[in-house]
Amino acid sequence: MTSMLYPTTNPSASEQMVVARGEGPYIFDRNGKRYLEGMAGLWCTSLGYGNEEIIETATQQMRELSFSHMFGGKTHDSAMKLADKLARMVPMKDARVFLGNSGSDANDTLVKLIRYHATATGRPERTKIIARDKGYHGVTVASASLTGIPTNHNHFQLPFDALGVIRTGSPHFYRGAIAGENESDFVARRAAELEAQILEAGPDTIAAMIAEPVSGAGGVLIPPPGYYQAIQAVLDKYDIALWDDEVICGFGRLGADFGANALEMRPEMMVFAKALSSAYVPVSAAVVSGDFVEAVESAASDMGVFGHGYTYSGHPLGCAVAHKVLEIYERDQIFEHAAEVGHYLQEKLQAFVDHPLVGEVSGKGMIGALELVANKETKQAFEGMAVGAYCAKAAEAAGLIVRPLGGNRVALCPPLILEREHVDELVDKLTIAVNATLEFAKQEKLLA
Ligand SMILES: Cc1ncc(COP(=O)(O)O)c(C=O)c1O
Repeated sequence: MTSMLYPTTNPSASEQMVVARGEGPYIFDRNGKRYLEGMAGLWCTSLGYGNEEIIETATQQMRELSFSHMFGGKTHDSAMKLADKLARMVPMKDARVFLGNSGSDANDTLVKLIRYHATATGRPERTKIIARDKGYHGVTVASASLTGIPTNHNHFQLPFDALGVIRTGSPHFYRGAIAGENESDFVARRAAELEAQILEAGPDTIAAMIAEPVSGAGGVLIPPPGYYQAIQAVLDKYDIALWDDEVICGFGRLGADFGANALEMRPEMMVFAKALSSAYVPVSAAVVSGDFVEAVESAASDMGVFGHGYTYSGHPLGCAVAHKVLEIYERDQIFEHAAEVGHYLQEKLQAFVDHPLVGEVSGKGMIGALELVANKETKQAFEGMAVGAYCAKAAEAAGLIVRPLGGNRVALCPPLILEREHVDELVDKLTIAVNATLEFAKQEKLLA
């Protein structure tokens, strides 16, 4: 034990693994053992480890300007360059960019911008936010309230009501469908439920619906075809903005530049972190449309300062690194590469469909998950999380990092730089782990 208190860890747990270094898509532990990083760290190291170009950019930036803040309109070139580049890339008109350090703080920024905007436009009641069950949007008090995962709520008395959070169903067909429902019935039901909730809460009181294109930490939940068209039609009808949390799905993860384009979403707000800098340094961005900012600007003289900003908003290091990472994505056609290798990954993952322990194989592009079940026919779930955790440990023993999630789902989200031979390695090692987990479940008499 050290003096560390670990994030998202049982406080009584002991150290599990000491990671010493990284190289390309691999990490090495303190004993020199090599692991294929099947989770890109925490869904973030899209360009892998040890990229000399990024390291050089970071070093140069720190030499030139190690810090400058952005309060009161003070600025610097690295931040302006990053904001302009990102604004040109996103599928939004005249996008404007607010920089921060994490996905959680970017979502908090939008919670506040929505409130500031509501007052500025003379509609102060329009602040409620629709958020989905099993969605993950961070862990600060506001973003955790938007998150729809009990582990991130328990013991914290979060201010759901004060923030006007309206919780709606997740688009997970495998667990959410009722008997006899096909995918299009399920989508129609979710859209109808959403509309009923909007009418009950009062459409004029709702500003936005937050959604990850594909929910990551909630289990890698791929919405059925037509889901976003159906949801978007309801939102459009009541003039409610779609707030697209691209913290995992942004920058090539789903086989297109953005999750919004992969799944035909039309967002008016977007949030980025993780792959924005390939996690070389912390940086995030909350992005809103030009129209949204214009409405605020015209009322700003009466309202005074937008009293929200982080010391490290637009930190020069984060901005320089993120700008370089975006350049590399374009120059090296990383999104196209990820789409091609992702296609191969999804094909290979289909091998698990017939595995006796696997209830669902979900995935799109370079993200995926297996749900391990006690009974494949009846979809009976295992109690607790021991089976998924066992599988992750077995993968680790085989030299592969995966992540066990709630519901005994085992997630994959490898760096986008993977080649086909890395996918073969990943699937071979995962097969070893899933087979070992089946033996464990049999031995412990956990199968139903
Ligand atoms: C979709 C999504 N949004 C927001 C966050 C929060 O980001 P951070 O952990 O950087 O605060 C995460 C983190 O995993 C995420 O997956």
